[in-house]
Amino acid sequence: MAFENIKVTNQYKDKVALIELNRPGAMNALNRELMTELKDALHQLDEDENVRVIVLTGNEKAFAAGADIKQMADSGAIDMLKVDQFATWDQIKKTKKPIIAAVSGFALGGGCELSMTCDMIVASETARFGQPEITIGTMPGAGGTQRLTRAVGKARAMEMVLTGKFISGEEAQEAGLINKVVPVEVYLDEAVKCAEKVAEMSPVAARLAKESVLKAFDTPLEEGLQFERKNFYMTFASEDQKEGMKAFIEKRKPDFKGD
Ligand code: CAA
Repeated sequence: MAFENIKVTNQYKDKVALIELNRPGAMNALNRELMTELKDALHQLDEDENVRVIVLTGNEKAFAAGADIKQMADSGAIDMLKVDQFATWDQIKKTKKPIIAAVSGFALGGGCELSMTCDMIVASETARFGQPEITIGTMPGAGGTQRLTRAVGKARAMEMVLTGKFISGEEAQEAGLINKVVPVEVYLDEAVKCAEKVAEMSPVAARLAKESVLKAFDTPLEEGLQFERKNFYMTFASEDQKEGMKAFIEKRKPDFKGD
């Protein structure tokens, strides 16, 4: 499938696919066309057996500076309801394979929210995370009041959401929003390294483990523990579990095939 607003490299490195947001003239603003392409690309990669992990990135200056303000500016509430742009986001969060965001420069509004929809975030020292919607007379609409609050706590989230304050990569790491902050020259390499590490694991176990961690966001503890337990048992139906435990006993590296 040809894309105009993103670039997809199916096998960027062994078992890792790369998606680059590609609207450099608009700071990678997330217009509806881009989000639809992103949804389609993620769906394709999720179906591709050769791909185990996806890295999502922007460019050095901007991961993404939010939803496209120019596209939304004149919309009414009913237009927004009819277009229902976040339905696309609902599809993105259903991606079964792990997604690692490689963030440099601005990750604002929907850009910050998109990075938080990913499973891990590696950022450059120049990264700036923020929810500045309040400064343009609105508020976050794709997780900025929910995922951000869960990640950084009420005090920081309130400050970011109510004042539009940006935080640096270092602050984001200290707050628990991201996994790692590294020099700008290596942020993509670091994200890919992390992806390659995950790609060595059993894809069956990775899928079930991702699903279980995400479950922790919207279930009471006991329900989450039961869910986790069933997924744990489920791994024992895989060849990968047999291979992993056999390899441990035989003191060799496992070769996970995803069966
Ligand atoms: N939507 C549309 N266009 C955008 C954009 C956005 N979110 N962010 C940047 N651009 C465009 C600018 O309009 C500009 O285009 P032109 O050259 O055609 O004028 C181009 O990208 C470069 O931007 P700037 O000239 O503003 O660059 P800068 O370096 O001076 O500033 C910035 C960079 C701080 C990121 C600034 O562009 C900015 O504040 N952007 C908007 C951030 C924002 O408010 N995001 C929230 C959007 S709403 C949202 O995301 C809702 C949601 O929850 C989903």
